[in-house]
Order: sequence, then C-alpha cells, then structure tokens
Amino acid sequence: MRFAIIPVLFFLVFFSYGDAYDPLDPTGNITIKWDIMSWTPDGYVAMVTMNNFQMYRHIMTPGWTLGWTWAKKEVIWSMVGAQTTEQGDCSKFKGNIPHCCKKSPTVVDLLPGVPYNQQIQNCCKGGVLAAWGQDPTASVSAFQVSVGLAGTSNKTVKLPKNFTLLGPGPGYTCGRAKVVPPTTFLTADLRRKTQALMTWNLTCTYSQFIASKHPSCCVSFSSFYNDTITSCPSCACGCENKHKCIKSDSKLLSVVGVNTPRKDNSPLLRCTHHMCPVRVHWHVKINYKEYWRVKVTITNFNYRMNYTNWALVVQHPNLNNVTQVFSFDYKPLIPYGSINDTGMFYGMKFFNDILMEAGPFGNLQSEVLLQKDQNTFSLKQGWAFPRKVYFNGDECKLPPPDAYPFLPNSARQNIFGFSTVIYSIIILLIGFW
Ligand SMILES: *[C@@H]1O[C@H](CO)[C@@H](O)[C@H](O)[C@H]1NC(C)=O
Ligand SMILES: *[C@@H]1O[C@H](CO)[C@@H](O)[C@H](O)[C@H]1NC(C)=O
Ligand SMILES: *[C@@H]1O[C@H](CO)[C@@H](O)[C@H](O)[C@H]1NC(C)=O
Ligand SMILES: *[C@@H]1O[C@H](CO)[C@@H](O)[C@H](O)[C@H]1NC(C)=O
Ligand SMILES: *[C@@H]1O[C@H](CO)[C@@H](O)[C@H](O)[C@H]1NC(C)=O
Ligand SMILES: *[C@@H]1O[C@H](CO)[C@@H](O)[C@H](O)[C@H]1NC(C)=O
Ligand SMILES: *[C@@H]1O[C@H](CO)[C@@H](O)[C@H](O)[C@H]1NC(C)=O
Ligand SMILES: *[C@@H]1O[C@H](CO)[C@@H](O)[C@H](O)[C@H]1NC(C)=O
Repeated sequence: MRFAIIPVLFFLVFFSYGDAYDPLDPTGNITIKWDIMSWTPDGYVAMVTMNNFQMYRHIMTPGWTLGWTWAKKEVIWSMVGAQTTEQGDCSKFKGNIPHCCKKSPTVVDLLPGVPYNQQIQNCCKGGVLAAWGQDPTASVSAFQVSVGLAGTSNKTVKLPKNFTLLGPGPGYTCGRAKVVPPTTFLTADLRRKTQALMTWNLTCTYSQFIASKHPSCCVSFSSFYNDTITSCPSCACGCENKHKCIKSDSKLLSVVGVNTPRKDNSPLLRCTHHMCPVRVHWHVKINYKEYWRVKVTITNFNYRMNYTNWALVVQHPNLNNVTQVFSFDYKPLIPYGSINDTGMFYGMKFFNDILMEAGPFGNLQSEVLLQKDQNTFSLKQGWAFPRKVYFNGDECKLPPPDAYPFLPNSARQNIFGFSTVIYSIIILLIGFW
C-alpha cells in the first residue's frame, strides 16, 4: 500500500517543480526593478536593479544576460555599469549615435575594474550574483540606462515586454513587468527621502527542467557498517557525450589550454559511469552514543570549470540537530517555518569557496557532527542518508532506494519510512497551497 502511494507523491512533487517551483526554496526568485530617476527631453533615465532572492542558487561567471523587447521605437542613448552586446542599426541617427537601437536589446554586466566613470553602485561584477542565503550584500546587481524615443511621463511610458534572463545558461522564466508604487530612497545622511518618478518590477524564477534535460550532479553513499559503496546511478547526468569524455590518465590532460573554459561553458568531463560534472558523496562515518558523524565529499569531474561560491543543499531529518560542521559554513534553511530538516553548506571565504577544476585538487570535504534524537535515529532502511541533495541549486540524482547500503540482517523493504511519507504529504500540501 505504502509503496503504491510513494510513486504517486513523487510524481506530483515532480510536477510542482516543472512549474518553476522549488520546495526547498518556495519563494526563491530574481526580482528586476526599474526606477525612473529623471525625465529627459525624449525619454527617461532609469536605474535597473536585479536582486537574487534565491537562498542557494547563484549566478556564476560568465554572469547574467538580460533581454527585453521595447514596446515602441525606444532606443538606448547610453548605459552606465552595463552594456548591450550589439548596437544594432542606428543609421537613421545623425549627430548623437545611440548606444543601442535594437528592438530587443541584450544586456550584460561590465567586468570589475572598468574606469570609474563607467561604474555605478552594485555594477561591474562580471554578471556574478551571489545567492541570498550565502551573501546578501553580493546578491544585487545594478545598471543605469538612458532611454530615448520613449514616453516622458508616467502616462506615456510603455513598459518593456518579454523579459529574458540567462543565468548564465537557460532555466529562468520571467513574468510581466508591473507598475508598482515608486521606490523611496534615503539620502546618504539619512535625513531626506526621495522617490523614483515611476517604478515597475518583475520576477524571474528558475526551473531545472528548462535548464537541462539531465541532472548536473549525482550522489553516492557509503557507511561504516557495510563495505558496499553505493555509487551514483549509471548515466545519472546523461550519456550522450560519453564519447567526448577524457580518461583521468589521458595524455590530452597535459595539453596547454585544455582547461580553458569555453564561451558556451560546455564541459570537458572525466569519463565516469555517471557522466556527471559533480558528485556528492555521503559517508556515514561513526556512530557514537549520543552523536553520529557524516563525511561529505564533493568532487568535480569537469576539467573546464572552477565552481566559485558553490553551495550544497541537503535535506535530512536530523539536520535540526547539527552540532558542528567542520571546514564548511553551514546555515539551516527553514522554508516552512517549522520543518527544520534542510540546510546549506558552502565554502569558507578565501579557504574553500572554490571547487577547483577536475584533477588532484578538484574535491572538497567536510565532516558533520549531529546529535541523535533517540526517537528517530536509525541506521536501518537508509535513514542515515539524505532525502534530497542540491549542488548550486540543481537537484542531484540519488541512487535508487534498493541500492542503499543496508545494515547486515536488516529488513530490506520499505526504505522510505513512514515519516518520509508524512513528510512528502506535507510538502505536497504546501506545494498545492
Ligand atoms: C520574490 O522573493 C521575495 C524575497 O524572498 C519575496 O518577498 C517575493 O514574494 C518573491 N516574489 C514572488 C513572485 O515569489
Ligand atoms: C503618475 O503620476 C501622478 C502624479 O504624480 C500620479 O497621481 C499617478 O498615480 C501616477 N500614475 C502612475 C501610473 O504611476
Ligand atoms: C513576446 O513573446 C511572445 C511569446 O514568446 C511572442 O508571441 C510575442 O510576439 C513577443 N512580443 C514581442 C513584442 O516581441
Ligand atoms: C514589486 O515592488 C512592490 C513594491 O515595492 C513589491 O510589493 C512587490 O513584491 C514587488 N514585486 C515583485 C514581483 O518583486
Ligand atoms: C581554476 O583556478 C585556477 C587557480 O586560480 C586556475 O589556475 C585555473 O586555470 C582555473 N581553471 C579554470 C578551468 O578556470
Ligand atoms: C534548526 O536546526 C539548527 C541546527 O541544525 C539549529 O541551530 C536551529 O536553531 C534550528 N532552527 C529552528 C527554527 O528550529
Ligand atoms: C537535539 O537533540 C536533543 C536530544 O535528542 C533534543 O533534546 C533537542 O531538542 C534536539 N534539538 C532540536 C533543535 O531538535
Ligand atoms: C551491504 O549493502 C548492500 C546493498 O547496498 C547489500 O547487498 C549487502 O548485502 C550489504 N552487506 C551486508 C554485509 O549486509
């Protein structure tokens, strides 16, 4: 009976995600706000601010790309703190030539270190946006745009349409821009408030199923009580590119430039049976009387990627009682206010916040000490292994339940205990609600 319910639940939970819904970060989104700061003879000057409100999903280098379609014949006279990738056809302009005349401009951030006169606050980070849960101060990006051939009052300005966001790859879907009450700003001395002349905003949400058809990471397990290592499922991240992978002893690896990232970020993977760029290994290491200890290892199999500001999210019922996390930073995530079973692990700044390219340094390790709740703790039925794992905001493929290392002589059936069923129901109800 229980076994009949679980696939149905999983199916439904799966569907709620397809809709860009992440049960571990239900309000996660990127908000884009346009504040008109002044009117010009033929348009306006706006500050555009992007806030990454996702707890554990950041935008890595080469950064975001923002696009939209103008509602009328608008042009961009100039930009500060960002630029369009193409100017387009500005041939009908004499004298002053606009920065961009395209109907659908594509905007990218400037790189750090551009001259001061091209900078503006929160700009010029090469499009990198930190996750909100990791570094809220670095989760904002901004630029200024001066728009011409536009309306010059809040009655005649038409909002841009069809916003698109790459972060840096596909996965984000943006909603429509809506006019909202004007943003207010405090002056530097905090003694005066000013306000935007007009404000609109929109949100973009992420869906892994839009981003790619395969997972981008997988999970393997082992334990002190069973010698078997449960490896990642075969082809967990798709085997289409199996012929392009590189063996770890290949001579190609000594060729100069083999690690140079490609413009489209296409990976160069080490050959593995799972073909994932990242593997997370969860080892149940020690069972003390009142505590137990887990070792977590993250391994990079991509020769062309250093993962900066990586974040690992784990869901396990005992995370409400994390006593100590060694060598990683840890933060509980409590998306529903009461269920404290999810947390994020991330690197310590300047120590291990970069997961280096595949090779001898391409792995990171941590140990986690958890205090047992004697009522729930168990080594049976795979209880000691995580329910969900995400790396950089993408859910990792777990081994099938019947492959978990199990206690000698323990009953094998019913890997997913009753509490998991209850939990799934709760998540499901919240999801629908
Ligand atoms: C976007 O995230 C913010 C901050 O978490 C939240 O207040 C807002 O409701 C979210 N918006 C949507 C449309 O989910
Ligand atoms: C436009 O500005 C006027 C006066 O400042 C204000 O009353 C009105 O609500 C604004 N309309 C919009 C759409 O913002
Ligand atoms: C916006 O996108 C929709 C669907 O992608 C398309 O039908 C529509 O023509 C686009 N509008 C503009 C102004 O480009
Ligand atoms: C837009 O701004 C309004 C007012 O500041 C805010 O209440 C709303 O949540 C924002 N909407 C989105 C989609 O971010
Ligand atoms: C990763 O970082 C190291 C050290 O900064 C650098 O030498 C290497 O080229 C980088 N690799 C990639 C793939 O960017
Ligand atoms: C959640 O669990 C952590 C330990 O993992 C604890 O420090 C934190 O106080 C708990 N938060 C709540 C709201 O229960
Ligand atoms: C942690 O475990 C101890 C022992 O079972 C328990 O008393 C305590 O309430 C737990 N803490 C949390 C936050 O659940
Ligand atoms: C260890 O777990 C595996 C399943 O992953 C099982 O086949 C094996 O029999 C277990 N070993 C022992 C000694 O029970």
